[in-house]
Amino acid sequence: MRVVHGAQPVILGISGSERPGGNTDLALDHTATLVEGRGGVFRRINLRDHRISPCSPCGDCNSRTSPCAVQDDMPAIVEQMKQADGIVYAVPVHGFGLAHLMQIFIERAGVGFLRFDRPLANKVGGIIVTGRRYSDGSVHHQLVDNLLLNRMILVGSGFPALLRNATGKPGLYDTEGLDALDRMVNRMIDMTLLLRSVSAEGGGDLLPLDDRNERVQRQRSAS
Ligand SMILES: Cc1cc2nc3c(=O)[nH]c(=O)nc-3n(C[C@H](O)[C@H](O)[C@H](O)COP(=O)(O)O)c2cc1C
Repeated sequence: MRVVHGAQPVILGISGSERPGGNTDLALDHTATLVEGRGGVFRRINLRDHRISPCSPCGDCNSRTSPCAVQDDMPAIVEQMKQADGIVYAVPVHGFGLAHLMQIFIERAGVGFLRFDRPLANKVGGIIVTGRRYSDGSVHHQLVDNLLLNRMILVGSGFPALLRNATGKPGLYDTEGLDALDRMVNRMIDMTLLLRSVSAEGGGDLLPLDDRNERVQRQRSAS
């Protein structure tokens, strides 16, 4: 594979954990080590450090064609997502579902920003779920659907990166989960390099802009 000279893959990790130094943070620390070991740049957003309003009853985004106007940290976060080659969503299971910081983020990002032109199209996506053991697969599934909705590229890498820890103390004790995480990150980097080499060779836009907004397509097929 030809690597584009001077182009370091940029991977952005987004953590939906409330707990500094907890299992999810440790998983992203490990991810950073792997990405940097492959010559990439790892950036991190801890959602707990940002002001993100939940979607409100305004319903404005159902008719507007431009991003959400609520003033908070979302536009800057979406901008960082646009600048990455790959994005890893890392989240704990809470109450058998996505921990609330990530749920709020996914809702706002999706309906408030990403639905208009799918700016994450063709970025490589990865998912890490930390939990005790209950419903981590459902949470993973929810994030897979979200990546696919955004036309991201989910790279087959083996088993999903589900990191279990039933001890109550933060730690990466799940060797099978860690193995899956290592494979996922390495395959994400491989795919990023492949995509960069294709576009350096004149691969052009792999997904045209007018194929990104399903509302426009619905209007077209209704007319
Ligand atoms: C409020 C709360 C709810 C939780 N619910 C679940 C659950 O439904 N299933 C599960 O397997 N673990 C559950 N856990 C355990 C966490 O998912 C697990 O400890 C996770 O790795 C914590 O990540 P953190 O250290 O980044 O906070 C819950 C923990 C908390 C605090």
